[in-house]
Amino acid sequence: MSTQRESIHGQWSSRWIFILAATGSAVGLGNIWKFPYIAGENGGGAFVLVYLLCIAAIGIPVMMAEVLLGRRGRQSPINTMRELAKDEGRSTWWALLGWSGVLGGFLILSYYSVIAGWGLAYVLNSAAGNFAGAPAAEIKGIFDELMSNPGELIFWHSLFMLMTMLVVARGVKKGLEMAVRWLMPALFVLLLVMVGYAINSGEFMRGASFLFSPDFSKLTANGVLIAMGHAFFTLSLGMGAIMIYGSYMPGDASIAKTSMAVAIADTAVALLAGLAIFPIVFANNLEPGAGPGLIFQTLPIAFGQMPGGTFFGSLFFVLLVFAAWSSAISLIEPAVAWLVENRRWSRIKASVICGMATWVVGLGTVLSFNLWEGYTLWGKTFFDLLDYLTANIMLPLGGLFIAIFAAWVMSRESTRDELELGDGGAYPLWRFMVRFVTPLAVIIVFFNAIGLL
Ligand code: TRP
Repeated sequence: MSTQRESIHGQWSSRWIFILAATGSAVGLGNIWKFPYIAGENGGGAFVLVYLLCIAAIGIPVMMAEVLLGRRGRQSPINTMRELAKDEGRSTWWALLGWSGVLGGFLILSYYSVIAGWGLAYVLNSAAGNFAGAPAAEIKGIFDELMSNPGELIFWHSLFMLMTMLVVARGVKKGLEMAVRWLMPALFVLLLVMVGYAINSGEFMRGASFLFSPDFSKLTANGVLIAMGHAFFTLSLGMGAIMIYGSYMPGDASIAKTSMAVAIADTAVALLAGLAIFPIVFANNLEPGAGPGLIFQTLPIAFGQMPGGTFFGSLFFVLLVFAAWSSAISLIEPAVAWLVENRRWSRIKASVICGMATWVVGLGTVLSFNLWEGYTLWGKTFFDLLDYLTANIMLPLGGLFIAIFAAWVMSRESTRDELELGDGGAYPLWRFMVRFVTPLAVIIVFFNAIGLL
């Protein structure tokens, strides 16, 4: 039988390392930078509720499907999809799903690296004491100044891309284990410290109620699509990142338990980030819908006021960069693994070439915050378009087809075998979710947002 394939890229040393690596991929800018600002732009509570529902009803089942496909195929998503389709006697056109994942990861990384570059710039800003005692207006000035300077943005974007290439070239395992073992927990603790600060800042309840009291009149159809897209984005689903990490997973680990653990950790980080940021927003009369600059214009205010803020601020941005780093790696790993498998390139060559190509596309995002700011299509800049196309279209579609493949194309025996959920209700529940709930939800939310429903 072909179920016992082995990955040529190696395997995680234990189930625990898989959890850490998948959490490293999931927890990133999506949780700390993106979640708060899109929650702010879409009115808070109701948006957050839809996002949480999507995580539970779509995210976890699709994550299980992705891990299961990866572990069964044990190759890059492109080759995994081709092989599994063959196993089931279906068309090898399914490999296209792998290709769309490679493209999606590449496009996401191009802007992800630019934003992670902002994080790097903020490590320096913090360490230099630029936030100490600074009022909100001055902190916004620091951010605006950075945005208006393409040269500086390119410098930080390049540095982050280099860091990513370095780890990917060394191999995901060696490069990643240390980062996720120590730095993820440290980030978590630091977020708790920030929430502690927010509790003392006077407006904690307003921040919490903004996040958790749903007001459905503020939620648009497009907002629902953004919430669903973000559920895919934040869990790294829909493009093969989790699939390839699954391909390095030991055969005896429980897919359900590990997926659940990753989803819970990821959601906890996002909610903590929201609870740290919105009280500061309200205490300083800032705008919750300030957009992509939100965390860079709020958290530094807190660091500027708290004792030891220069240290905590620098540490926070260092950890943010690490979180972004461990996510960025998973965005190009599918492409690199494919080049190693099919073109027989060395990991180094594959990483450098993928990294350089991503870097070039990233320049478009750099410019969309300054020189190209005025060039928009449907009111969106280059960065907005890229973000919308990937997070709200490509990832949900990728997730939809992954669900269809796992639940409609693969035989019940194949998935049952791989998931090992026992004889209770867990397996039928999972199959029901990916067979009906995920496809219907994605389709309805899509058409609703386009205005056809
Ligand atoms: N999940 C990461 C975050 O929230 C980003 C990310 C990494 C990602 N790999 C991915 C998003 C794959 C989509 C697909 O920051």
